[in-house]
Amino acid sequence: MRIVSGIQPTGNLHLGNYLGAIRNWVRMQDEWSAKGGECLYFLADLHAISMPHSPAELAANTREMVAALVSCGIDPDKSVLFNQAQVPAHAEMQWLLNGTARMGWLNRMTQWKDKAGKNREGASVALFTYPVLQAADVLLYQATHVPVGEDQKQHLELARDVAQKFNNDFASEDAPVFTLPDPIIPPEAARIMSLRDGSAKMSKSDPSDMSRINLTDDADAIMQKVRKAKTDPEPLPGTMEGLAGRPEANNLVGIYAAMAGISPADVLARFEGQGFGQFKPALGELLVEKLSPMAARYRELREDRAALDAILAKGAEKARALAAPTLARTYDALGLVRG
Ligand code: TRP
Repeated sequence: MRIVSGIQPTGNLHLGNYLGAIRNWVRMQDEWSAKGGECLYFLADLHAISMPHSPAELAANTREMVAALVSCGIDPDKSVLFNQAQVPAHAEMQWLLNGTARMGWLNRMTQWKDKAGKNREGASVALFTYPVLQAADVLLYQATHVPVGEDQKQHLELARDVAQKFNNDFASEDAPVFTLPDPIIPPEAARIMSLRDGSAKMSKSDPSDMSRINLTDDADAIMQKVRKAKTDPEPLPGTMEGLAGRPEANNLVGIYAAMAGISPADVLARFEGQGFGQFKPALGELLVEKLSPMAARYRELREDRAALDAILAKGAEKARALAAPTLARTYDALGLVRG
């Protein structure tokens, strides 16, 4: 049993990143390692060059993301944590799988269509073959399970198609080269919205810092942002129907629920009839209690470049060893002579 998952490096991490992806990785690490399973988590820095990017930012974001993951609970001794760029097998495997992936399959990918938009001629080749690299990422390690968001399900199906076709074309039925990985779609992660506008996602690119809770925020900043969060004048309702048409109230209740590990309905049961004058301090204190230890570690670790590079180097070494046998078998199956 082996989980493999990747995330594109971004900087300025916030509550939305934590509740959307990071926390889920931490949970899976803890559940799977208790059952003797393995988790490989990587920063998809090779994928990041498929769109226009700043090299300096990519390097900084890669390190910042490692700092965030480790601060939030990814343990480099329990999980294999690395970046693709230090494991050349990813790029090699992509090339080997390019012979199997079909143009027609890639043409149907909705992410390609969305990101290329009307200007397909001007899109990078890397953007087009992005899903083949993603297939290489997981097939390289014989992943059995791949946790992905709903938007990445199609890419995982493509990875299965590539594995299936490769096995059919180049391996015997009793000795397939690749395992077909199953997706794990996490139970609908709370969609965390801006604190200033309940209809926009919490985002690092929102010009207002008051719109988001950063993973670097201290207790005062968190309390202030929650206190100033946009709301309506009504008290909290007793049932979920009562939140209809109240996006800001809905968002704050959702954040409370996600942080407390209870359902939004339970939050309402607890706070029914109370106004935001009471609810906001309770939410602020909960956020401070849960985020402060992580934020303190994060503020420290993100400044410690040597420690971050050491974490990545160690993870990459393990990943290279895990990738080697499947990579060798793939070369071999294709008739590529390597001495
Ligand atoms: N494409 C994924 C995303 O944007 C990131 C990713 C790259 C990934 N390789 C992967 C996810 C392999 C799971 C498995 O979210």
